[in-house]
Amino acid sequence: MQSTSTSREVSDWPVVSQPTSLLEKYLAVRRTSLHLCAPLTVEDHSLQPMPDASPAKWHLAHTTWFFETFVLSSYLQDYPPFRGEFRHLFNSYYNAVGDRPLRALRHILSRPSLHEAHAYRDYVDEAMVRLLADDVPSDALDLITLGVNHEQQHQELIVTDVKNGLWTNPLRPGYRTASDGHEASTVAKVLPLEWCRFQDGIYSVGFAGQGFSFDNEGPPHEVYLQPFRVASRLTTNAEYLEFMLDGGYGKPELWLSDGWDCVRNNQWSAPLYWEQRDGDWWHYTIEGMKPLAMNEPVCHVSYYEADAFARWAGARLATEFEWEVAARSCAVEGNLMETGRLHPQAIKTAGTLAQMYGDVWEWTGSAYLPYPNFKPAAGAVGEYNGKFMCNQMVLRGGSCATPLSHIRVSYRNFFPPHVRWQFMGIRIANGN
Ligand SMILES: [Fe+2]
Repeated sequence: MQSTSTSREVSDWPVVSQPTSLLEKYLAVRRTSLHLCAPLTVEDHSLQPMPDASPAKWHLAHTTWFFETFVLSSYLQDYPPFRGEFRHLFNSYYNAVGDRPLRALRHILSRPSLHEAHAYRDYVDEAMVRLLADDVPSDALDLITLGVNHEQQHQELIVTDVKNGLWTNPLRPGYRTASDGHEASTVAKVLPLEWCRFQDGIYSVGFAGQGFSFDNEGPPHEVYLQPFRVASRLTTNAEYLEFMLDGGYGKPELWLSDGWDCVRNNQWSAPLYWEQRDGDWWHYTIEGMKPLAMNEPVCHVSYYEADAFARWAGARLATEFEWEVAARSCAVEGNLMETGRLHPQAIKTAGTLAQMYGDVWEWTGSAYLPYPNFKPAAGAVGEYNGKFMCNQMVLRGGSCATPLSHIRVSYRNFFPPHVRWQFMGIRIANGN
């Protein structure tokens, strides 16, 4: 860790997998956000390298704002807000709550200070503990659970936004040093890709279990799938490099029209964070620049690149329902945030369906659309997912920065097709 980090260091990774109560889960998730920010300097907390990314300080305050605005203001009697102006200042996109500062200008909020953002968190935490000490109406419990899951989403964004911000610095400083005891990939060989086959049929998809899910995961419904096969593992850096060396970025026939425009306009010739040094490929990681490990999953590619690679490989991307059906045969485990690696990892054994959870979010070939009879949640939080169902693609499976207790088989992430700064990768699929 850097010597100039803030005093709020948390030595052990907070365990959130098996909480015994909502309060325990709430507190563990809140600690985890601070844990992720512990290696950052005060200055790092204000980095906003592009409009899509937000400063870590903003994430810390905005996740707190969610509990204050949607829970405490309605359900804790006589609750005085920490500072009234924060209702406007830390609103992200909720039109029902009111106006807010421009997203691209979140970095200008030098005041409130980081110290005050931490005080805001403490203030709201104390009030949440008081609220949860009594009987809480079920709609409030639902909002608190949503807030906990919301904060977990922002935890992943803290990692990816900080990574992008530090990479923008010409010195390419790491978020942490390599000596923090996190095991690097030890398998040097690229293990063979095999195909896992699935029969055609009518399958149930969507969330149908107990516990929390986002509104966009339902209602559960049936879909008919043609026979299909999915790759047993993620696409590796070695395979992606082969595509690059074959002139993949220069062959218009491999690209969607928008993708080709995107490649040309942005002069893309490799995934985000890749850099050639003296003829060798390096990439920027959470621990700074490292030689590219050929057996690791390729990461930080757009939907356009994933789609073009799949076409070059004589394959395609799985639809989100093919992915979901395939993932049902796998346990929800893998290289998720709790491993502490915050970097995708090579598989250790070949042959079985692997890496479905963790490592990288897998681009699917499915547009982000509502399921049949989808109804957004009631109230302002109805703006959470539904209003983004246009011009985005679905990603599945979570990444190395997704908390284990946050991901599930029906989980739908979504991003516009040009986006690369999340931990995004490729698994190819095909018809049988
Ligand atoms: Fe948010």
